[in-house]
Amino acid sequence: MKYVLSLFAVLLVSCGGPIYESDTSLDQLPLIPRPQSVISELGGFGYGSNLEVITDNQELADLQAFIPVESSLENSSGPLVLSLGLKHPSPEAYRLSINRREIRIQGASPAGVFRGIQTLRQILAASNSAPQQPIKVLPLGVIEDWPSVSYRGTMLDVARHFFTVDEVKRYIDQMAQYKINTLHLHLSDDQGWRIEIKAYPRLTGIGAATEVGGGSGGFYTQEDFLELQAYAAQRFIQIIPEIDMPGHTNAAIVAYPELNGNGKTVSPYTGTAVGFSTFDARNEAVYTFVNQVVKELSSLSTSPYFHLGGDESHVTSKEDYLYFVERVGQIIRTHQKTPIGWDEVAQTDLGPGSVAQFWASEKNALAAVDKKMKVLMSPAKKAYLDMQYDSLSPYGLHWAGYISVQDAYNWDPLSYVPGLDADQILGIEAPLWSETISDSSGLEYLAFPRLICVAELGWTPQSLRSWEDFNRRLTEVSYPGNKSSK
Ligand code: ACM
Repeated sequence: MKYVLSLFAVLLVSCGGPIYESDTSLDQLPLIPRPQSVISELGGFGYGSNLEVITDNQELADLQAFIPVESSLENSSGPLVLSLGLKHPSPEAYRLSINRREIRIQGASPAGVFRGIQTLRQILAASNSAPQQPIKVLPLGVIEDWPSVSYRGTMLDVARHFFTVDEVKRYIDQMAQYKINTLHLHLSDDQGWRIEIKAYPRLTGIGAATEVGGGSGGFYTQEDFLELQAYAAQRFIQIIPEIDMPGHTNAAIVAYPELNGNGKTVSPYTGTAVGFSTFDARNEAVYTFVNQVVKELSSLSTSPYFHLGGDESHVTSKEDYLYFVERVGQIIRTHQKTPIGWDEVAQTDLGPGSVAQFWASEKNALAAVDKKMKVLMSPAKKAYLDMQYDSLSPYGLHWAGYISVQDAYNWDPLSYVPGLDADQILGIEAPLWSETISDSSGLEYLAFPRLICVAELGWTPQSLRSWEDFNRRLTEVSYPGNKSSK
């Protein structure tokens, strides 16, 4: 009898409420990155400005902050239900279903629910095309989605020009929309040192006061770093700190001249040349310094990785370079982190499981896998966000070539280097060097929409990618920066 009553109640409710029909279909919406599977169903889910969120999990309840409509059932076909328990090898997997009575996002972990919420935001934005309509109608169906590559990142060079905490947060918000999960911060270079190290106060007292072009520089206190890390973690993004060495170290050497290994007098540098500075690989004071820096940063950082740079050390002898990088690799491991370096580090024995970030040399990328290292794919010719789009771009460089939006999309990170297998690739990262940009508007000009291309290259398998389809979706959405000027 109870069963019959409750069945009757459901019928009453569904007969009583309005029935919505959507004039779009879920698989036609401009979702980026393109999901793994979208199945459309007929009908519609209606809502006003409200969507009641239901969950029995506190961590998921906190994700309501990322849903751009108020929480209430008024004017709505039904609730948005957030839950865990999806069985999938990727913690970022989610299943998003919309039927006439509810929207449901189930994740393999809270990260999966968060990624699903980004998809829902895109669905809501696509359904907002008629703002005068009090009721919005979403198409029905089921999205099953997960990333094809687990590490999908971008790097921001805060050394050539400093970017404030708020500017970095703004970039983190933009990354999150496209399901990017790693922000690599390039925290030191010839032109500036950007992170407080308590045992070496002149690093920020002196080393942070410069930047390219003669601006006043800046740095993050350790509290700032923790604030950025927490902000990123709320969006299921890890921050990987990089201290570039033994080259790219002029700012540190200006602060502590005993670290110098190039035999010349040093002075602050605000130009854009590379390859002239080096730590002294045979001076124990250098390792005391490096150990302290790695120790302080590793105690702050929740990422399993520490990036030691290692690129363009043109005035370090080969022998000193090998000795230095291997020793720094051991220091990093002592502090329970896994070393990453630019692809030159594949010439050293950094140890199995460490990571070579391929930017220039395929030979180095192949050497890395021979040494049981993983490769992070950042080929400058495709993935460097600081390359100009074309000769008219007001920002950017072109030493690796011009990279149009189509060029940024039309390559496959998992087969780009012949001889490298997909299981040897840790992921994909798009670096943004900052010689020519100093604020969010320059950053957004260079990063968008090319970072969106990289986001899809990391998330959507090659079999589902096509430039024509991507370009159609891109033209139907708005994204950061001024797309019409590119
Ligand atoms: C690099 O572009 N020097 C890694």
